[in-house]
Formats: sequence, structure tokens, C-alpha cells
Amino acid sequence: GKLLFYDFVVKETPIKMLCETNRTILTVNGLFPGSEIRARKGDTIYVNVTNIGPYGITIHWHGVRQIRYPWSDGPEFITQCPIPSNSSFLQKIVLTKEEGTLWWHAHSDWSRATIHSPLIIMPAYGKMYPYKFDQEHTIVINTKAIIDEALETGGDTDLFVAYTINGQPGDSYSCSNGLAYNKTVVCGKTYLFRIIHSGMNEEMFFGIAMHNLIVVGMDRAYQKPLNTNYLMITPGQTMDVLVTANQNPGRYYMVFSPFVNTNAPSNKNTPVLIELPGFTNKSDAGNFTIQLRSLNSKEHPSKVPTKITRNITIAVSVNQQPCPANKTCLGPGNTTMHSARSLNNISFSAPSVSILQAYYNNINGVYNRTFPDQPPTLFDFTGNVSALGEAANVTTEVLKIDYNDEVEIRFQGTNFGAAENHPMHLHGYSFYVVGIGDGNFSETDISKYNTVNPPYVNTVRLPKNGWAAIRFKANNPGVWFMHCHLERHSSWGMDAVLIVRDGKKKPQKVRPPPKDMPPCSVSSS
Ligand code: C2O
Ligand code: CU
Repeated sequence: GKLLFYDFVVKETPIKMLCETNRTILTVNGLFPGSEIRARKGDTIYVNVTNIGPYGITIHWHGVRQIRYPWSDGPEFITQCPIPSNSSFLQKIVLTKEEGTLWWHAHSDWSRATIHSPLIIMPAYGKMYPYKFDQEHTIVINTKAIIDEALETGGDTDLFVAYTINGQPGDSYSCSNGLAYNKTVVCGKTYLFRIIHSGMNEEMFFGIAMHNLIVVGMDRAYQKPLNTNYLMITPGQTMDVLVTANQNPGRYYMVFSPFVNTNAPSNKNTPVLIELPGFTNKSDAGNFTIQLRSLNSKEHPSKVPTKITRNITIAVSVNQQPCPANKTCLGPGNTTMHSARSLNNISFSAPSVSILQAYYNNINGVYNRTFPDQPPTLFDFTGNVSALGEAANVTTEVLKIDYNDEVEIRFQGTNFGAAENHPMHLHGYSFYVVGIGDGNFSETDISKYNTVNPPYVNTVRLPKNGWAAIRFKANNPGVWFMHCHLERHSSWGMDAVLIVRDGKKKPQKVRPPPKDMPPCSVSSS
């Protein structure tokens, strides 16, 4: 593979959108979204991140396994401390296994709202895609509403619902005239659209009027082609779809909903509209997700672990609880009762030094090792959830896993409180989604697992009142963050940390850290 070098300068940049005057947001190199990085499987990317913004920052390579090198992974206080203002950190990203569409984003506080961009990994030199297309195009979807929320600036109603495609708003906003994102395609040609959901909190349906979509990839792995007229895509996910421009010349809406455009400007050039399932249409959303399969070809085989040596069940919930005196409680609510998010009734509290550094250097007192393999009490998604309505423990727990364990994690949604589906995301690994279902998980569901060609992804849509089972082989030692990719959930405690121990042999151990790791003394925004 080749060596690629990039300079990232993190800084405050004024941008203008809709009827707004300039607004200052954090960017990399002054761009929103940032610029796309393209590499090939086998390449190594060096990124020198220089922070001239006012807050500490980190950059994460979403979906890159970072084999035995968690030092470049990026989540703040998990694998590193934030890069302080006026300093640099050189990250090394080795693309050994990855091939497909991934992305990079900031991983400190809510800064990923404006700091994110595609990471496209093409097949290794001399290798081919397992499908054909004429041209490719990347689409990054985001929600500007959350840029406001992250900046704590309010904003008018239009802004509050302004979704963006590649940084541009749709055309149903009063001030979007001529600014709406568009892409010209040529009749008869087939396009590969690489879609990245970089939004903070909303799942989205996607479709193109009158056009079929063929899903061929997801989270940097090839999929068995799936013919559909809509996608359900959740924050953190990427999907590669083929679209053939086979309709009469004209204009066709490309729509991400919850918000279907009903008051589009009406003139003779009005594009053809598409009807997507409603935002609350759980069955259409679920029906799309359960049809996904990995390609499982000779060149891209599925290798699903079948001898499970570690079985973990994780209840995913929302708790209403008193905030302990002398603590700063995350999540909405006042000082007496607030809303926490938890995994197995533990609401994750980040330490002020990095867990990876504490683990690697044997520093005590930074985290506990008592994250339970099972929920502390029986849960029942049907509503009898009083047990999980109890206060979650706000602590820093890690889950230790032995090298080469074959791990199964069963996530159970508890549908408590303001429940939503949860895009559960794991760093350091891709995993196989062997099963997804409604209701409480039961042992009889195991007989229905797909161990032949399940999706191979880094983010799974856990139904709020259902379950999802994932499998992976723990062959990447290190400290790996696992969290809901809804920022409102992750930042309020719906997180866990996996420590995968070293193996016995040398190439099974975490590599030593680089010399320029940011010091653990600065606090982020
Ligand atoms: Cu895109 Cu920790 O994630
Ligand atoms: Cu969540």
C-alpha cells in the first residue's frame, strides 16, 4: 500500500446558511463538511491534526479497526486526552481490512456536529469492485438543527428543521432558493452513491423519486445486492447504493425524511416527489433492516464465530433518577431528577485521563472492572420496567475480554421513558448481526440466527422494544469504546468500554504509543 499524508487544522470558521448571517462553527481546514479522504485497502494514512480552535478536540476514524493501535482511534478520555489549543497530534491509520465507505469525525463533546467527512477506501491495487458502475458520488447527510443545539444558540424554526445534504439545505426552506443540493446524472448510466449519515440524533428514510436503489455495501463491507425503493439509515451508518438513471429526462427529488417535502415550490420545473414511509413507520424501517445480508462471496467470505466463549447481555435504557449531591449530572432535567442513559444500569462517566493510557501504564483508580455480563435485574420491554427505572450508577466501568474470545453480545431495548431505537456502535471491530427481533430476547431466538451471511457492520439498529445479537472474534487487543450513536444518548451515559486483553505472542499485543500523545491535563469544551 501507499503512504498518504494529510494536514488537518481545526479552527473556528464563519459559515452562512439559509437566511442567517454568518455563524461561527468548528471546522477542519475551514470546510463544512470537511474534505473527503480517498485511499485504497492496504494504504497507511498519516494525519497531522493541529488544533487552533478554542477547545480541546479529538478525531475518530469511524469503522477503521486500528489493529493493535488504539492510540489513533480518537474518542476523548477513552483512548486519548483532547488535543489542546495550539498543539498537534500525528495520527496513523493503517487500512488493513477495510474496504468501502467509512468516515471520520470529531469525538469530543458534540463537536462532530460540524467536524465530519467521508473516508473512502477503494479496493487494493489490481482488485475490482464486486459490482459495476459508471461513476460514483458521495452524499453526507447532517442535521443543522443540531449544529444550533451544539452551539447552544437556539435559532429560528426554519433552521431547527434544516437537514443538509453535503452541507446544503433542502429546498422547502424559505431561504434555500437555488441553494438546494442537486446532482446531474446522465441517462442510461449507473451511479454508485456512497451515503453517510453523519447526523446526531435522527434515523432517516431515503429515496429517489421513480428510481430503484440497489444496496451493495454497508459500513465498509459488501452486501448481497438488495433491491429496494427506500433505505432506512441510522446515525453512524454508511450505505453504498447503485442507481441507474433510467427515467425520462427531468428532475427527481432525492429525499431524506422524517420530513417529506410537501410545500415544494410549484413551477413547471418542480421535480417529481417521492413518498417515503412515515417517520414513525416502525415496520417499514424494520423490514428494510432485516433484509440486509453480507455478500459472502469467495473473495469476500463471511466468517461468523460459532463457538461462543463469552456471552454478554446488555440492557439499553433511559433512567429517571435523582442526581447525587456533589456530582454534575448529564442529561436533561433539574438537579433533583434528571434523565440518564445507561447500559446494564450503568451510566458511563468519562474519566479525566484516558482509559487506554491508564490500562497500558497500569495506573490504578481510573476505572472499575465490574461491568456486569448480564443486566442487574430482569427487564421486560412490555412496560414492566420499574427495576430499570431505578437510578443508574454513574461510574466508569470497563468490560474485560480475553484475546481471541468468540463474543456474542445481545442488546435488549427496554422501551422505557423517551425510548428510541439505538444505533449501537463498536470501535475496533466490525461484527456480524446474527439476529434482530421484536420484544424480549428468548433462548428460542437462537435457532433463528443467521450464521451464514449476516450483515458485517460497525453499527446496528437496536429496536427500542426489541433485541439485536452480534458476534465477533476478539482478535484486536486494545481499549474500545461501545456506544449508542445518538449523541443525546451517548453523551448522557449510554456507553461502555471494552478492554480486549493482549494475546501471549508478540503480534497479539497492543503496540507502544506514539511520543506525541496529547497530555492529560486539559479539559475539553
Ligand atoms: Cu462514529 Cu464512537 O463513533
Ligand atoms: Cu440510544
